Amino acid sequence: NKYDYLLKLLLVGDSSVGKSSILCRYSDNQFEEKVLSTIGIDFKVKYLKIDNKTVKVGIWDTAGQERFRTLTSAYYRNAHAIILVYDCTVRESFENLDVWIHEIDKYSTNKNAIKMLVANKIDKPNHEVTKNEGRNFAFDNNMLFCETSAKNDYNINYCFEELIQQILNN
Ligand code: GTP
Ligand code: MG
Repeated sequence: NKYDYLLKLLLVGDSSVGKSSILCRYSDNQFEEKVLSTIGIDFKVKYLKIDNKTVKVGIWDTAGQERFRTLTSAYYRNAHAIILVYDCTVRESFENLDVWIHEIDKYSTNKNAIKMLVANKIDKPNHEVTKNEGRNFAFDNNMLFCETSAKNDYNINYCFEELIQQILNN
């Protein structure tokens, strides 16, 4: 259990946008149609080998439900990166991004934290948010941007790799 770097990532965003599904796909390469809404907070660890160094990545998966907001706010502290997820088929989850940005600004003590915006569920038809809208929002808020499908395993690895690489280069 030795490692050269310890990284802390945080997943936030509205309830049911797919945060837990993204993490489950990344850590266990699994997907379930029926997932229990997260209660409070979940946690996974992943070890990566990058440039001959062992990187221990701890990923905190927060509950999107409003009633857990006070509890989850404590987990923003010292996060190296914050992954903000919306569901591209639910306009409201995109409209709420401003609220999440506000939470991040309020609770993240690491001002160098890297932020990534993730548009999840792109496998589904009837998108209510265009790729350009997502990209523009990310650009305006100094975030990386990624489209994913936890269901079809599209871009999940890439999204985490991109983020981890950015943190290590920081
Ligand atoms: P909270 O824990 O309540 O904050 O929700 P969450 O953001 O963790 O969402 P969760 O991972 O529980 O997913 C909600 C629902 O969306 C589940 O039924 C998943 O199967 C489904 N889902 C997640 N990701 C995808 C995806 O990429 N495509 C499709 N089609 N469905 C997805
Ligand atoms: Mg969840």
